[in-house]
Amino acid sequence: MTHQAAEVAKRRTFAIISHPDAGKTTLTEKLLLTGKAIAVAGAVKSRKSDRYAISDWMAIEKQRGISITTSVMQFPYRDHIVNLLDTPGHEDFSEDTYRTLAAVDSALMVLDGGKGVELCSIALTDVCRMRDTPIVSFINKLDRNIRDPIELLDEIEAILKIKAAPITWPIGCYRDFKGVYHLADDNIIVYTANHDHHKNTKTELIEKLDSDRARAYLAEEYDNFVEQLKLVQGACHEFNQQEFLNGQLTPVFFGTALGNFGIDHVLNALVDWAPGPLARFANERTVDPVEGKFTGVVFKIQANMNPKHRDRIAFIRICSGRYRKGMKMRNVRTGKYVRISDALTFFSSEREQLEEAYAGDIIGLHNHGTIQIGDTFTEGEKLGFTGILSFAPELFRLVRLRDPLKSKQLRQCLLQLTEEGATQVFFSEGSNNIILGAVGMLQLDVIASRMKEEYKVECFYEPITVYSARRIDCRDKKKLEELSSKVIENLAIDGSGHLTYLAPTRVNLAQMEKLWPDVKFLAALERY
Ligand code: G4P
Repeated sequence: MTHQAAEVAKRRTFAIISHPDAGKTTLTEKLLLTGKAIAVAGAVKSRKSDRYAISDWMAIEKQRGISITTSVMQFPYRDHIVNLLDTPGHEDFSEDTYRTLAAVDSALMVLDGGKGVELCSIALTDVCRMRDTPIVSFINKLDRNIRDPIELLDEIEAILKIKAAPITWPIGCYRDFKGVYHLADDNIIVYTANHDHHKNTKTELIEKLDSDRARAYLAEEYDNFVEQLKLVQGACHEFNQQEFLNGQLTPVFFGTALGNFGIDHVLNALVDWAPGPLARFANERTVDPVEGKFTGVVFKIQANMNPKHRDRIAFIRICSGRYRKGMKMRNVRTGKYVRISDALTFFSSEREQLEEAYAGDIIGLHNHGTIQIGDTFTEGEKLGFTGILSFAPELFRLVRLRDPLKSKQLRQCLLQLTEEGATQVFFSEGSNNIILGAVGMLQLDVIASRMKEEYKVECFYEPITVYSARRIDCRDKKKLEELSSKVIENLAIDGSGHLTYLAPTRVNLAQMEKLWPDVKFLAALERY
């Protein structure tokens, strides 16, 4: 195996997904602790007042003086390099979540054992299913009362439409939580309550369920547990790696993130079973991760955590080749070459600037307005990676300024937020109206608060009747002029400068398509 192939084979790039409050942040922190990327857990406390994740990591960053960003974390585990991508944990999530899922090879789903499958998990697994992304499941909060585990597995199968194969099985819960039984290894991994969360405690193993030690440990629960296991083994799916890789089956683990228990089981599953960097599809061809030449795709642009510096970071998933410090890259969309000597890495235990990175890794480039979500970078080849979806907004609002003198700032900040992919903006052709499009209301609330905090622009929203925003594609200039004169009040320019038709209703859109056969009203689904 070449050096590059060996480096690629080491990588595991996954997103962590869950419904808010299931324990994603706590689990992420414990994953970093297990990966020795941080030394102390418990630094991340209640974030009820600030759910947008940025502050979650600031505390650790300050405490250790290391560079952890909100959304990408890299750490070594065993002889592997793990790239963990956070997804925003909002109830109604943004396009960002979809794109992050497009940049990973597998996902880790966290479920609250007391609640089971909740709304966000359904939406997120649906997105995973679009690409058959393999999912590892972690049922959390075993130190509390949880629902019947068999019922939880049934729920995963019925609602998420994926086979569930338990790898470990819980022995009791809440005060009686004694640990988990590993079905394949036939051993009990002992849980001790109130142990020190700040350290990686050594696990105690009891070999074989059919042993005196196991009988003594489970005491009067022993017979019941053995009975339950028979049922589980009879009724549940067995783990099958191929089905897992096809996205048809999820291995299920039980534990408690707060109690730092079960985390290593999940990490082992990701390392042992989840795929390494997969081939990626471009319009021109399929790109193999071990190809010699560098290629990558921008899946996210984020305003820096430091509001004083208005720089933005473009996150690139490396699809093939090797990033070397100082290398020249071509942004295929603009055709321009740039020399990159200051790419950021998200290796949380080291501060050094990135020297090299391989397929599966995420690097960050400083963006001064020249990089867009979906951009492909290569060493020269003309390639366009597909799959970084741009979803059609479903919710539209008119933006109104509280201080009318700030209209220039409003325009500027909305263009930047659009570039980040945080929202979609439309500047009306027939009036001075500015319209925002989003996937959900919360996304618009976040935009309003970011405008206020980061750009000092205060605004409010008013309803507007828009059913769908459609990009207009028409080669015939005359027809286009005719259209403009007839429906100017429904036309707008979107954030990337495209002429867009804002259809007030479904019926109207259908009529327009019929009346203007030479004009295409394109639904925004995929950028390239
Ligand atoms: P999220 O990122 O998915 O939204 O969840 P987060 O980790 O913030 O966890 C949500 C709440 O659940 C937190 O409590 C957290 O402490 C708690 N939690 C997470 N894992 C476990 C677990 O294994 N057992 C128990 N008992 N609780 C768990 P909180 O009250 O909202 O905040 P805090 O004051 O405890 O930090």
